[in-house]
Amino acid sequence: MSNKLWGGRFTESTDEFVQKFTASVSFDQRMAQQDINCSRAHARMLGSVGVLSTEDVNKILQGLEEIAAEIEAGTFEWSVVLEDVHMNIEARLTDKIGDAGKRLHTGRSRNDQVATDIRLYVRDALNLITAQAVRLQHGMLELAERNIDVIMPGFTHLQTAQPVTFGHHVMAWFEMISRDVDRFRDCGKRMNVMPLGAAALAGTPYPIDREHTRESLGFTRIAANSLDAVSDRDFAIELCAAAAITMTHLSRMAEELVLWSSAQFDFIELPDRFCTGSSIMPQKKNPDVPELIRGKTGRVNGHLVSLLTLMKSQPLAYNKDNQEDKEPLFDTIDTLHDSLRAFADMIPAIAVKKESMLESARKGFATATDLADYLVRRGLPFRDSHEVVGNAVRFGVEQGKDLSELTLEQLQSFCKEIDTDVFDVLTLEGSVASRDQPGGTAPRQVALAIEAARAGLSKSS
Ligand code: ARG
Repeated sequence: MSNKLWGGRFTESTDEFVQKFTASVSFDQRMAQQDINCSRAHARMLGSVGVLSTEDVNKILQGLEEIAAEIEAGTFEWSVVLEDVHMNIEARLTDKIGDAGKRLHTGRSRNDQVATDIRLYVRDALNLITAQAVRLQHGMLELAERNIDVIMPGFTHLQTAQPVTFGHHVMAWFEMISRDVDRFRDCGKRMNVMPLGAAALAGTPYPIDREHTRESLGFTRIAANSLDAVSDRDFAIELCAAAAITMTHLSRMAEELVLWSSAQFDFIELPDRFCTGSSIMPQKKNPDVPELIRGKTGRVNGHLVSLLTLMKSQPLAYNKDNQEDKEPLFDTIDTLHDSLRAFADMIPAIAVKKESMLESARKGFATATDLADYLVRRGLPFRDSHEVVGNAVRFGVEQGKDLSELTLEQLQSFCKEIDTDVFDVLTLEGSVASRDQPGGTAPRQVALAIEAARAGLSKSS
């Protein structure tokens, strides 16, 4: 059987394998809802300009309504012979309503139709993704607020650097996700432009009213160039790029959760419902969810490269290559959405082991910089104080003692300027409280950051 929607100029039917090879219906049927909405808007518009009779428009709308219900109910029969979601729905419409169904495709092409459908799909997906990201942000604020003055070692090179508060660390994550949300919103704005009306590539001679369809589909403007409208998939690339960055952010957080929930760090406990056990080692509780998200980052980054490579060197206008945009795009959307959802569920449920974090911050000479800064306030040039503290640390290492555990006499043997008030800066609490400039780790600053973040969230929602 040849495809009756375009079979006219063919003398033999499509090779059976080629039919399957070129079909997209198995994966583009997920745009059925968007395709039907696109057709509704197109039919109404054709009616409004007199290209279709009111009677035909009503039949089309009625038929599409029924088809939507069949798809919803799972009774719609998708056929690979009909290649894609667009021709499956159109053929079914014609089965139902006859000639009026055949008139629906007047003044449009699958090229502008698919370009419009994907944008509608991505627009819906972006809303769901952004909602999960914002849920995650709220969860982070909750976790940060509960841990405003919980002290942990801050790391550079994964070596103890300076003490920070756990609230501050969580607010660093919050900042990453905030930029991600901005990127999704920005991508949504640039993408919200309507290709419909570009037809195959050159526009259409019918007296269509693109403003009419734009308005009913909720696009902010109509695409200004028909060749560009049907061919570019940069909006899909952009979404994948933003998704890859977000997944990369999640993978960094996931890595920290994995490390911190190990017996060696022992900073946090993940709720049992986000972990699994081992079939052989009874003691194990594996942080599967963060590990899996860390792993899934790979496929999303891969999808970005797929789409870039798909688009590279394509001449104007539409090419069948573009059918390959959907699987990477859909998988990116699903993976990103589910990863954000898992994180949003997990983050506020993390149990923080304050004592263990504090204990860890006490090791590793986290307040060495504070001692150096103290000596600078006493008049030593910074490089000299760096040297003095370096000697004191070496001594501490030999003695197995932290700087705060050395006696005043021992400290003074490295520099006479040191006095009893040195112990104020050698404590972890003193150290974090002193970093009280905007953006710093002092609990007062973290509280201000959380307040500002909350205000920002309620303004943008
Ligand atoms: N299934 C096609 C796609 O996803 C629809 C557009 C087909 N257009 C064409 N001229 N063959 O891109």
